[in-house]
Amino acid sequence: MINRRQWIAGSAALAAVASSGSAMQAGGAKKPVVISSANGMAACAKAMQVLKEGGDTLDAVIAGVNIVELDPNDTSVGYGGLPNEDGVVELDASLMHGPSKRAGSVAAIQGIKTPSKIAKLVMDHTSHVMIVGEGALRFAEAYGYKKEDLLTEKSRTAYLVWKESLRAPNAFNNWLSMEENLTGRPAPPMKRLRSRFPSVDDDTLAWAWEMAIHPTYGTINCLSLNEKGEMSGVTTTSGLAWKIPGRVGDSPIIGAGVYVDQEVGGAGSTGVGELNIRIVGAHTIVESMRHGMAPKDAVLEALKRVSKLYNDDKAILDKLDIEFYALRKDGEHAAGSLWGSHRSYKQYTVNDGGESRHEPCVFLYTKQG
Ligand code: GLY
Repeated sequence: MINRRQWIAGSAALAAVASSGSAMQAGGAKKPVVISSANGMAACAKAMQVLKEGGDTLDAVIAGVNIVELDPNDTSVGYGGLPNEDGVVELDASLMHGPSKRAGSVAAIQGIKTPSKIAKLVMDHTSHVMIVGEGALRFAEAYGYKKEDLLTEKSRTAYLVWKESLRAPNAFNNWLSMEENLTGRPAPPMKRLRSRFPSVDDDTLAWAWEMAIHPTYGTINCLSLNEKGEMSGVTTTSGLAWKIPGRVGDSPIIGAGVYVDQEVGGAGSTGVGELNIRIVGAHTIVESMRHGMAPKDAVLEALKRVSKLYNDDKAILDKLDIEFYALRKDGEHAAGSLWGSHRSYKQYTVNDGGESRHEPCVFLYTKQG
């Protein structure tokens, strides 16, 4: 469940965590700020470029996440995302535009590399907020999009390795509850995998096995604030790898995957969507900020609500991965995850006008070791 790419270990961590969320701007000046999940270094840079050129806050974050959606090497978003149980990539995306207070969303859409653009079309050109499945594809086609195969060789290999993994005891099984899935960790049968996939290198096979037994939820959330105080946000994902076809996560749910009220701020989430949906995380965070909480505390409050879903049972929570992101209207920001330590913590991406950089996430529980 844990996406290890987002973790960092380092001795400077303690100071960094302590300074998290210190981007409050003096005198209430609106300096443009973009934040995103850790996989958004290029996305935040692009979004900031659009803001500096005077572009709209929503156009900025969409242009940013399009980079990740089109990146075949990000296996949790858009093109190259890990597919569903049937080997078909199904994408979810949602967005909110602060100035107009409008929203758009698509869920379980197949064959379109940039679902965030389709969510924007839903917002701009319909009286609806959300279109799903076959209807979402037909809607995109009506606007000239062509259905494409979104599998890459890498994601296709991972799918086949997942099929192989189903033979293993304790393999991840969609038809069991999350709790039942959280036990066991079969070792990779490298000999069999090598003979089954002779042209695939060992690193890719080991990665594919990890994805098979700990399916990724990936996702990118990106939030923006411009110098006029306007804000927008977007979240886009290929969702849970190997999901039951039609499964919809938190990303396309307005209030869970993303929420923006530019009189207060914006928030979003990545990680296990089934946890976030049950606490409506993004909306919860914005409402906490509305009532005076700092972004860091609002994020921690949302994480506490996730923890309560499992009665604060750390043995279960230890295996779960969820992150929240918050950007307040004055530019202060924070992100948080369930677990971290002063030596090893998750990160998020910030761009406040220069280069994109990673900042440490705050965390609810301290991991030992
Ligand atoms: N957060 C992405 C998902 O659960 O689908």
